[in-house]
Amino acid sequence: MELPELVRRRRVRRSFDAGAPVPRAVLRELVDLATRAPSAGASQGWDFLVLDGEDVGRYWAATADPSRPADRWLRGMRTAPALVLAWSREAAYRERYALPDKASGSHAPAGLDARWPVPYWHVDVGMAVALLLLAAEHHGLGACPFAVPTARVDAVRTAFGVPADRTPVMVVALGTPAGHPDDELGDVGDGEPGLPAGAAPRRPSRRRPLDDVAHLGCFGRPLA
Ligand SMILES: Cc1cc2nc3c(=O)[nH]c(=O)nc-3n(C[C@H](O)[C@H](O)[C@H](O)COP(=O)(O)O)c2cc1C
Repeated sequence: MELPELVRRRRVRRSFDAGAPVPRAVLRELVDLATRAPSAGASQGWDFLVLDGEDVGRYWAATADPSRPADRWLRGMRTAPALVLAWSREAAYRERYALPDKASGSHAPAGLDARWPVPYWHVDVGMAVALLLLAAEHHGLGACPFAVPTARVDAVRTAFGVPADRTPVMVVALGTPAGHPDDELGDVGDGEPGLPAGAAPRRPSRRRPLDDVAHLGCFGRPLA
């Protein structure tokens, strides 16, 4: 499949065929492709924790909120046979940008954080995950990025031996998709796994029109 079609076809999927494991070789290929992403200063301050089999259940146990019953979002996501947890490491950028080619000349730091307009360690993980999502699509897999609940980050670190200097940027649920993309919950469930009681699932939000997001020469002039 050509790249434009692959990109346009990709949609998040939030329920999976739990009985169809993702082969380890495919998981390895997805992560390998993710690491082909660009990174600031080639710092590559990313790590990918791949969970399959029983380890997936250990993730959900570590992040469970015993006071809340599993809602539709969680029931769907728990069918994913594999999870990839993407972590950033800020120190990789501080170490890299302290090297002579970055610590002098035009890259000389004017202030501690003036080198990065935004935290590039998180940006780069986002770049890598985007490649992983496209690679998953290429392999016919469904995928959904989501957040580790903030209150459960330490529990996840403990469960899987993740060093304290890693920050969880997002998790990607992976598997053979079940159902139809139009049955998806849309943005409901973002960050907080759970629909309010009785709430109707929403259809995915429409894409912002290109003329709204693309500007030619100056802000507000459409890219014709
Ligand atoms: C950084 C990031 C975090 C996200 N977090 C969640 C999440 O917590 N729960 C969820 O269901 N979807 C999450 N999503 C998926 C978005 O809801 C989804 O990409 C968006 O609705 C657009 O749908 P599409 O990817 O099918 O085009 C996240 C996506 C990104 C990029």
